[in-house]
Amino acid sequence: MNKISLRQIENAFLPAKEILKAENFAGRRTHVIDSFSALISEGANIAVVGNRGIGKSSLARQIINISQGNNELLEKLEIQIDEKLDFLTIYIACGNAVNNTQDLLVRLLTTRDCLLEWIYEIPTAKKEIDKINAGVDLKLIKVGGEGISETSHQSVINEHQIDVIFQNVITDLLKSKIAKDGILIVVDEFDQISNPTGFARLLKSLATNTPGLKFCIIGVASDIQTLIKEHESADRLFAGSVINLPSMAPDELTEIINNAEKSIERFITFTDGAISKMISLANGHPYIIHLIGKQAFRSAYFGGIYELDENYIEQALRDIAEKEADPVLEGRYKKAVASSYQREAVLKSLASCVQADGEVHTGDAYKIAIDKQVDNPSHYVGQMVSDEYGAEIIKVRERYYRFKDSLFWTYVKARPWIFTN
Ligand SMILES: Nc1ncnc2c1ncn2[C@@H]1O[C@H](COP(=O)(O)OP(=O)(O)OP(=O)(O)O)[C@@H](O)[C@H]1O
Ligand SMILES: [Mg+2]
Repeated sequence: MNKISLRQIENAFLPAKEILKAENFAGRRTHVIDSFSALISEGANIAVVGNRGIGKSSLARQIINISQGNNELLEKLEIQIDEKLDFLTIYIACGNAVNNTQDLLVRLLTTRDCLLEWIYEIPTAKKEIDKINAGVDLKLIKVGGEGISETSHQSVINEHQIDVIFQNVITDLLKSKIAKDGILIVVDEFDQISNPTGFARLLKSLATNTPGLKFCIIGVASDIQTLIKEHESADRLFAGSVINLPSMAPDELTEIINNAEKSIERFITFTDGAISKMISLANGHPYIIHLIGKQAFRSAYFGGIYELDENYIEQALRDIAEKEADPVLEGRYKKAVASSYQREAVLKSLASCVQADGEVHTGDAYKIAIDKQVDNPSHYVGQMVSDEYGAEIIKVRERYYRFKDSLFWTYVKARPWIFTN
């Protein structure tokens, strides 16, 4: 019998989940300090922006913990804080069901994990919700009766009314002093809202009318303007509290690996060579460390291997590709390559010469591609910017391209070849 269970092995690395517990959360010290500062600074909303898979939701979870008085992470990072915060914190992830600002508000108001549970405690707030429910019922009758599409809902309760109901509910909740520091609403995957028009305006009016309410919005973007797709008013609403999450540094990535080893009492470990290899493959993305680590631990456990070296990491990469451990990244890879050695060679060539600023000069990439016996690399680059091949590559200007997403770029570099020449 192994003293470490398969369950422990399977949960040592967590590619599919954001980090909840402070003990598993690596690095990010300055970002945690910035988050805490934003939480205690009056009138500041918070925004967390960064690339895909860089750790935004994980930081959001830590912000939630801290906002609810759990200071474990602050203690672990030796950040001296003498108070425990007390927010009523609500988390919502915008899947594809949230199309605009009103959808977001309706969801916040009518979902049990969100505000609904609290609203029931307060009669005045409950009255406000009944207005929405009346609207939704009407919509159902209409849809059922006449086969009208969903949009009829809009005409039943209009935009403005929802804003007002939301504001009234928040005011009632704040008045009832449910939590000393106010209400924190964390909106993850904000970038999934296709039309967030009006959100900045809403924040502005809430800032004056309901001090004590704070939003923390999270999404894939390079800055806050891109995230909320509104240019003028955003700055002041998020002044000093935009947290731009960069790639993780090698020592932070090493900490993730060390934490995983520790969680299984170092039953299986990586050699220094394997750790360096994982770090170079990850290219700053914690997700890639978790993806590789999980695969490596799983097969080592079943194979009875206890020390994993660089070759073992190579093998893990092959397994990840073969088993489609990340079906989305693998699907994008296959779409870009589309069963052609030539296209794969061009994609790999582009990935191998991304400069520090993220751009690729075609001169560099073509040279490598021609060495790999590709006849006409520019032809394939032309294809790869098109939707048919996933549009993973974007033309910046004459002779300069970039990968749309650095996580995909990292995957392209790490993934073993499909074709051999
Ligand atoms: N500080 C951290 N310490 C350890 N692991 C982390 C850390 N931050 C992120 N991770 C891990 O990296 C992966 C991606 O993290 P997370 O889901 O938080 O990123 P994200 O930016 O929200 O991604 P997406 O853009 O896909 O929403 C997950 O496997 C998560 O467990
Ligand atoms: Mg996320």
